[in-house]
Amino acid sequence: MAQALIEVLNLEVRYGGIAAVRGVSFAVEPGEMVCVIGANGAGKTSTLKALARMIPSSGEIHYDHLRVEKMLSHELISKGLALVPEGRGVFARLTIRENLLMGAYHRNDTADIDADLDKIFVMLPRLKEREKQLAGTLSGGEQQMLAIGRAIMGRPKLLLLDEPSMGLAPIMVEKIFEVIKGVAAQGVTVLLVEQNAKLALEICSRGYVMENGRITVADTSANLLADSRVRAAYLGE
Ligand SMILES: Nc1ncnc2c1ncn2[C@@H]1O[C@H](COP(=O)(O)OP(=O)(O)OP(=O)(O)O)[C@@H](O)[C@H]1O
Ligand SMILES: [Mg+2]
Repeated sequence: MAQALIEVLNLEVRYGGIAAVRGVSFAVEPGEMVCVIGANGAGKTSTLKALARMIPSSGEIHYDHLRVEKMLSHELISKGLALVPEGRGVFARLTIRENLLMGAYHRNDTADIDADLDKIFVMLPRLKEREKQLAGTLSGGEQQMLAIGRAIMGRPKLLLLDEPSMGLAPIMVEKIFEVIKGVAAQGVTVLLVEQNAKLALEICSRGYVMENGRITVADTSANLLADSRVRAAYLGE
């Protein structure tokens, strides 16, 4: 896949004696929306953290024509790779506006930053209404929106999302997924990790199933949704 935006070859993540990711290979092409589904402890978060260089790993990571395994996470952010972490990681004691601006800390195009902030407030009006409120006082769903907004402020090419639906009521999950679709429609490539397999497969064109640190199935969303094993294990059918 010469034209992949990100390609991972034989990725491994270890925590002491525990092998959390055991030789994973996959690729995402520009403009694609791809998901990784799998049970608790399968290694999904570890995979995303390794891609964002937040934890050490072995194997090759090719991103935007660069070998990035030796890079630091902030270098990757400035190259357009953004991670919205599991549990959101907003800065509780900063305001909504300050949190959003943190997402643009590596940019110096002040006028464009202001314009992007305005765009995000149009896309996420709940955040506009609460612009000066401390992020720690937001509801879980609003914090998830803020975490996505903050990532968008970095003008990412590749957005990694770790369980954006976690702990949210169905109506809020629907809203968050609408936002993610909107971001993808603007041309941002999306790699989505989700335990909510049904929703993830509905918005992504392809998916990977991760089990015990390995990718065990890779297919189109339509095929995965029809696969009896996937249905039994991940769709509760
Ligand atoms: N910091 C850590 N130290 C030790 N082991 C860890 C650490 N982080 C993760 N692990 C272990 O690595 C394995 C994979 O964890 P990971 O968080 O990547 O799974 P996951 O697929 O994201 O799970 P979940 O769906 O519950 O978020 C688990 O067995 C976990 O206990
Ligand atoms: Mg996880």
